[in-house]
Amino acid sequence: MKTMKAKGAVIHAIGEDWKVEDLELDEPGENEVLIKVMASGLCHSDDHFVTGDIPVTLPMIGGHEGAGIVERVGSKVTRVKPGDHVATLFIPSCGTCRYCARGQSYICNNGAGMEHGLAMDGTPRFHLADSGAGIGGVTRLGTFSNYLVCHETQTVKLPEDIPFELACLVSCGVATGYGAAVNGAKVRPGDVVLIVGAGGVGMNAVQGARHAGADHIIVVDPVQYKRDRAPEFGATDTFASLEEAQSRIDSLTNGQGVDSAIITVGRVDGEILGAVFDRVGKAGICILVSVGSYDRSLSVSPQDLTNFAKSIKGVMYGDCNPSVDIPRLLQMYVDGSIKLDPLVTRTYSLDEINQGFADMHSGANIRGVLVHDH
Ligand SMILES: NC(=O)c1ccc[n+]([C@@H]2O[C@H](COP(=O)([O-])OP(=O)(O)OC[C@H]3O[C@@H](n4cnc5c(N)ncnc54)[C@H](O)[C@@H]3O)[C@@H](O)[C@H]2O)c1
Ligand SMILES: [Zn+2]
Ligand SMILES: [Zn+2]
Repeated sequence: MKTMKAKGAVIHAIGEDWKVEDLELDEPGENEVLIKVMASGLCHSDDHFVTGDIPVTLPMIGGHEGAGIVERVGSKVTRVKPGDHVATLFIPSCGTCRYCARGQSYICNNGAGMEHGLAMDGTPRFHLADSGAGIGGVTRLGTFSNYLVCHETQTVKLPEDIPFELACLVSCGVATGYGAAVNGAKVRPGDVVLIVGAGGVGMNAVQGARHAGADHIIVVDPVQYKRDRAPEFGATDTFASLEEAQSRIDSLTNGQGVDSAIITVGRVDGEILGAVFDRVGKAGICILVSVGSYDRSLSVSPQDLTNFAKSIKGVMYGDCNPSVDIPRLLQMYVDGSIKLDPLVTRTYSLDEINQGFADMHSGANIRGVLVHDH
């Protein structure tokens, strides 16, 4: 198959740095789209591929929170056309599987097998230029490459007047965080909401809770910079730890616990989940967005779940239907209902990608955004 040249950041082995490499990229198949990637958010999920918390086939091109321009399309593509601005979807939205058909595209059946990063037909589109080895792109995307090929069901057309470095955030962090509050926790006017972890996803959970009408949005994050910035997005109270937040939670809820809590820490474990769950009140819900390992270390009292009619719910992609929700979120941005500009703390060139992740780990960024050179 005819190939073209690309350049992207590859992870070769667990714990290693990202390596910027020359790549060869196959032409799009009949249902595929060649995207000139303009910008990609540095989402913490990409780091889970590096730590091994999310096991994927290595080596692999990173990046899933992308936006770009359609360069070419396969003969059977109907969703987008050359020149369209698009967001990349880290879960496909096929529209016809059991889940898409009932409005749950965030768990589309075509998400199966994405840990290999290969195209839907099981073959690679990326090849390392030096060895010729075929490799996958994270979630069948690979937005840390300046060009990628993906299935048309992993694209949503974007309005053309929104800068790529803002639009890319909506393809993961904004949809995930906003949706965790609005669709997952179903925050109601007057609610007391606890949000644990105020990064690229958590700040959007704060925005979602505010937009849904919560009166009190308590943010917990150990990093001072995140606590300083959280009120811009709607936080009413900020604390460095759950322990420090306790007396405020008690005073706002008469000791009952919050209406809902949303976990958006960088890496979750059973202990954090248990500690947050314990601060949720009767009939309240604890939403888990964060990723951790596959261990089974949940520390939650079964009695509390039953006796107090509490829930724990995992939320993928903010329980969103991206074909509907991505344009809707961008319209909310245009209307001033949610903010995107202050989410971008710093932009990076491809060569600076390891600095971008170092800044994520040190807590320097709400979101770092990789801007590709073209
Ligand atoms: N479910 C999904 O669909 C989905 C989508 C995107 C991201 N994620 C996951 O969501 C999580 C957050 O991603 P992100 O990109 O916002 O990460 P991030 O690194 O930008 O933000 C994480 C924040 O958590 C804070 N934090 C760390 N430990 C904490 C603790 N013990 N208590 C309170 N705060 C703590 C950090 O200071 C940071 O501000 C990651 O695990 C990511 O993989 C899930
Ligand atoms: Zn993400
Ligand atoms: Zn589907």
